[in-house]
Amino acid sequence: MSSTFSDGPSKGASASAAPKAITETTLAELREIAGRYPEPRSGLLPMLHLVQSAQGKVTPEGVEACAEVLGISAAEVHGVATFYTMYKRHEVGDFHVGVCTNTLCAVMGGDAIFERLKEHLGIGNDEVAPRRQGDQRTVSLEHLECNAACDYAPVMMVNWEFLDNQTPESAVQTVEALRAGHPVRSTRGPRLCTWREAERVLAGFPDDRVDEGPGAGPASLVGLRMARENGWTAPEPPAPATLGGVSEDRTPQDKEGAVAHADTARAESETVEESTGAASATERKEADDD
Ligand code: FES
Repeated sequence: MSSTFSDGPSKGASASAAPKAITETTLAELREIAGRYPEPRSGLLPMLHLVQSAQGKVTPEGVEACAEVLGISAAEVHGVATFYTMYKRHEVGDFHVGVCTNTLCAVMGGDAIFERLKEHLGIGNDEVAPRRQGDQRTVSLEHLECNAACDYAPVMMVNWEFLDNQTPESAVQTVEALRAGHPVRSTRGPRLCTWREAERVLAGFPDDRVDEGPGAGPASLVGLRMARENGWTAPEPPAPATLGGVSEDRTPQDKEGAVAHADTARAESETVEESTGAASATERKEADDD
């Protein structure tokens, strides 16, 4: 079975090693992932991460291997691999640096960070920086959409680990430390690992870093702290036998009637509140006129 799988756009420089072949060990692990799910094809996303761990990118060979293990076509695998931006069909660096340039991060400095890194590394979006003499590791750069970490804007990711509250200067320091092979930690604690190591974790083969760093940082917990300080709690969920206050043993007609009644009652109470407010405003205006 063959596919018309493209290696993607040409890059500014080649990354580290050429992809290794899919080995028997990798094939066995692909089968292991597929076996985790009642429907084997549900394992395709972690399987593609394993291919990236083994080969550095999603290669045509990796696509064929996934298709064979799952008993689906290469075109189906290709369709998934080309849909999600976390799957790369071209080389990335040992450390893939993503800069969020979505709205909030952009205005908080993400655009400036991205421009600074492009200039510093001498590359464009989605390219690998040339390996200089003495560099221990390679770095690639990509602008990312929102990472759902806006409370720490502007954020950067290295192999999907967060670096919060970045500046152009801190971003340059980070990529230089990575290229020099120095150990670097996420601002949330975990040690940064290489692209291939991170991809193996995403395939469901954990490393020893799982408990490094907090589950949630202070900025993400502000709302929770305020709720506790003010005694705010979530409304109680409905009792199991009811849904929206409507008993489950009623007929559909009963339920429709109860829902209509509830809507009417709410609308009436809102109307009363509005008219009371309007009356109060009128009374206030009359008092002011007096
Ligand atoms: S806009 Fe950057 S994390 Fe949301």
